[in-house]
Amino acid sequence: MGKKRAMITAVGHYVPEKVLTNLELEKMVNTNDEWIRTRTGIRERRILEKGATSDLGVGAVKNLMERRGMTASEIDVIIVATVTPDMFFPATACVIQDKLGAKNAFGFDLNAACSGFVYALTIGSQLIETGAYKKIVVVGADKMSSILDYTDRNTCILFGDAGGAVLLEPSPDESVGIIDHKLYSDGSGGRYLYMLGGGSLNPSTHETVDKKMHYIFQDGKAVYKVAVIGMADVSEEIMKRNNLTGKDVDWLVPHQANLRIVDACAERMGLDKSKVMINIDRYGNTTAATIPLCLSEWWQAGKIKKGHNLVLSSFGAGYTWGAVLVKWGIEPPKTIKNYELGIKNK
Ligand code: UT7
Repeated sequence: MGKKRAMITAVGHYVPEKVLTNLELEKMVNTNDEWIRTRTGIRERRILEKGATSDLGVGAVKNLMERRGMTASEIDVIIVATVTPDMFFPATACVIQDKLGAKNAFGFDLNAACSGFVYALTIGSQLIETGAYKKIVVVGADKMSSILDYTDRNTCILFGDAGGAVLLEPSPDESVGIIDHKLYSDGSGGRYLYMLGGGSLNPSTHETVDKKMHYIFQDGKAVYKVAVIGMADVSEEIMKRNNLTGKDVDWLVPHQANLRIVDACAERMGLDKSKVMINIDRYGNTTAATIPLCLSEWWQAGKIKKGHNLVLSSFGAGYTWGAVLVKWGIEPPKTIKNYELGIKNK
């Protein structure tokens, strides 16, 4: 079993049909479209009305398998990054395995909040590198609407539901694939973004429900300040240690928490806005799904070319943050789908 570099050989995504616009939120909570657009970049988000996070993941993996032309029985490992598992246990990865009929796979969940996908991609690529596994599905999926308080304007306007997935396989060509990664955690940031109820600290009771402890709490301002620094720092770090300047990077694939955070990160990297994947306007913050959702849409639109340098970068609860450098190794699809890519915020 020789050491092999991992590469992304397929991408997929799934978004629910129901759209929740800023204008609709205006009727639910004391907010307005202008505030949401100018402070975050979000116009609308998707809501999964029926089903759970595993359904978002299954949709994304099915999309990926169709594009790759493979069956579920070929999958060796399923890693699911999520903060909204179907339930505490069994793992959502096991639920997805069952729904797909991926009989030869083992699977587990990983919780690194908004950085879940970059964490899971890093772990998945290490498993490929050992030579022991040939096809690893890395899923980022979150049904954020299941933990949102739609009377709290600080949080309910920010998030949406979606699933994204990539397939990792050994690269036939050492020059392409997952080139480098750098992950960080700082647990002292845990007090600024959390969900208190339901765990072993505060098991579910009538009181935890009454006190709204099963919803997200975020001190937005505190998180904003460190997110800007953390995402920019780690993106710059991964560029520097691979001798890349802004000119060498073809795409920044950022976690979509706030357009202003993304802009600051791109500026520090010396990147033109045209090289930044942005779909926060259409989906909001879908937590672990944001990055694979971008990859899937941009690939389908024929925008990611073989040989492109991609910096995937994220910051989230924990705190957790990190970046992955990818040298893209697959061709664009034969049929290009013209998504409405790029921010349409006017
Ligand atoms: O993905 C995981 C990591 N999370 C993040 O990276 C999120 C980081 N934080 C943010 O993106 C921003 O802090 C938010 C978008 C959450 C908030 O933006 P902000 O510019 O930091 O606003 P703020 O919280 O400082 O609030 C400014 C004002 C306040 O009013 P006063 O006190 O100035 O009168 C808020 O009460 O805006 C008010 N406000 C709203 N107004 C209308 C807060 N939420 C809303 C709202 N609609 N939804």
